[in-house]
Amino acid sequence: MERTFIMLKPDAVQRGLVGEVISRFEKKGFKLAGMKLIQVHRDLAEEHYVEHRGKGFFEPTVDYIMSSPVVAMVWEGKNAVALARELMGATNPASSNPGSIRGMYGMDISRNVIHGSDSLASAEREIALYFKPEELIDYKKAGEEWLSE
Ligand code: PPS
Repeated sequence: MERTFIMLKPDAVQRGLVGEVISRFEKKGFKLAGMKLIQVHRDLAEEHYVEHRGKGFFEPTVDYIMSSPVVAMVWEGKNAVALARELMGATNPASSNPGSIRGMYGMDISRNVIHGSDSLASAEREIALYFKPEELIDYKKAGEEWLSE
């Protein structure tokens, strides 16, 4: 089982999309391991996007995720990192699959509703940035036997 870090960005919270997007993850079959509503401050925002420091969109992206509360989550499942990326759709909603979360709810790359880790290594780094180990819960979820062999 893998764990991936997912963030519902400020636009998702402000536009009332939190329940809808969480529902998509639940219905897909992912298991929720951790969740909290937080206000991201500058140090955390800059650390989150550190690989993009120096690029033109770095400052606006940092300002954007600090602009309103976000929902930070950890979802678990088989191939969770890759499957969550598929469910989210391409980074730019202008070219996301129309059935994906960004394809359905986003209009522009600067307000793309959701963030998800792009690799297992990123997932581990991002989970550790946002969650203490004791904030993640390991439990048996009903129906797991109906998701894979
Ligand atoms: S890239 O092109 O490989 O650097 O992009 P990626 O690693 O997929 O994600 C970049 C994150 O920055 C946000 N962002 C932008 N990216 C590219 N171009 C522009 N103009 C831009 N504006 C904002 C983008 O939404 C990605 O955020 P996350 O939270 O990772 O989805």
